[in-house]
Amino acid sequence: MNAAILDLTRKVAVVTGATGGMGQVIAADLVRAGAHVVTVARDPARADALRAHIGPQAASRLDVISGDLSRRADVVTAAETIVDRYDRIHILINNAGAHFSEHRVSADGIEMHIALDYLAAYGLTTLLAVPLRRGRARVVNVASDTLNDTRQVKLIGKPRPATLDLAGIDDLAELNPVAGFAPFEAYARAKLMTVTAGYALAPDLAADGVTVNALHPGIVATDIIDTLVPPLLRPVRPLIRRSLLTPTEGAKSATRIATDPAMAGITGRYFVRETESSTPPVSYDPTTQQRLLALSQTHFAR
Ligand SMILES: NC(=O)c1ccc[n+]([C@@H]2O[C@H](COP(=O)([O-])OP(=O)(O)OC[C@H]3O[C@@H](n4cnc5c(N)ncnc54)[C@H](OP(=O)(O)O)[C@@H]3O)[C@@H](O)[C@H]2O)c1
Repeated sequence: MNAAILDLTRKVAVVTGATGGMGQVIAADLVRAGAHVVTVARDPARADALRAHIGPQAASRLDVISGDLSRRADVVTAAETIVDRYDRIHILINNAGAHFSEHRVSADGIEMHIALDYLAAYGLTTLLAVPLRRGRARVVNVASDTLNDTRQVKLIGKPRPATLDLAGIDDLAELNPVAGFAPFEAYARAKLMTVTAGYALAPDLAADGVTVNALHPGIVATDIIDTLVPPLLRPVRPLIRRSLLTPTEGAKSATRIATDPAMAGITGRYFVRETESSTPPVSYDPTTQQRLLALSQTHFAR
C-alpha cells in the first residue's frame, strides 16, 4: 500500500494489468482512496484473487471485465462495455504488459509485444476518448526504460536505444518479425511505440483537459522479471528479486502521475520514476508519430 492519495470518491479509474504485480497495488490503492476501479482480466481465478486482495470494498467498487488485451476484439468489447457503463473516466492507467522470450503472434496476426504492450494501450486510449474527455482524465502509460537502452546486461558498450522505422511499413503485423527477433528489443520497441503514440495523442486530448504521460517504474520484483533475467543469471533469480524495488515501491510512479495535484495539466512527458526524462529522438518525430497513429487506427478499423 502506498502513502495517502487524495480523496477519489466518485472518480472512475480504469487500470489494466490489475491482477498482478504493480497493477494490483495501484488498483487496491485507488479503491482505498475511494475510486471505482475498472479492470480487464483474462483469468477469472486471478480476478478473484484481486477481489480478495482488495477486500470487502471490491464488492461495490471493483468492476472486472473479462478479456485478453492482446486481442483486438477483446480490447474493442472491453472499451464498449466501459463506455456503456461509465459516462466519464477520470484515470486510465495502461499498465498491462508482458515480455515474451520467444516470437509469438496474437490472434490477429500481430507480434505479441506490439499487440499487448502497445495496441492495448493505444486502443483503450482512443476507444475511450469520449468518457476520458468528459472526465478530463489523466492517461498514464506504464512503459519501460528499455526503450532508452535495449542491452540486457549493461556492463559493456554504450546504451542502445530501441528503434522504430515505419518507412515502408503498411501494417503493424510487419513489425518485430521472426527474422532477427530479439525479445528484449521487441519489448522495448512496443514500449517506444506506446510512448510515441502518447506524445502524438496528447495535444488533441489536451483541448478537453486530458493529459497523457508515460513512465518507467524502476526495476521491480514482479513476475515479468522472471522472463527478463538473462538465462545465465537464472540460478540467482531469487537473489536478484530481493535486490529490486517491491511492487508497492514500483506502483508509486503511476499512482503519483495519476493522482498528485502537482501533476495537474502536465502532459506529453516521460518519467523515470519521479524524474522527468527523455526518450529516443524518433519518438518526437512528427512523421513517425502520425504514421504510427494511422497504422494503429487502421488496425482497429478492421
Ligand atoms: N517489473 C519491472 O521491472 C518493470 C519494469 C519496467 C516496466 N514494467 C511494466 O510494468 C507493467 C506492469 O508489469 P508488472 O511488472 O507488474 O508485471 P506482472 O506482475 O507480470 O503484471 C502484468 C499484468 O498484466 C496482465 N496481462 C498480461 N497479459 C495480459 C493479457 N493478454 N490480457 C490482459 N492482461 C494481461 C497480467 O495479467 P495476468 O494476471 O492474467 O497474468 C498482470 O495483471 C508492464 O507494462 C511492464 O512492462 C515492469
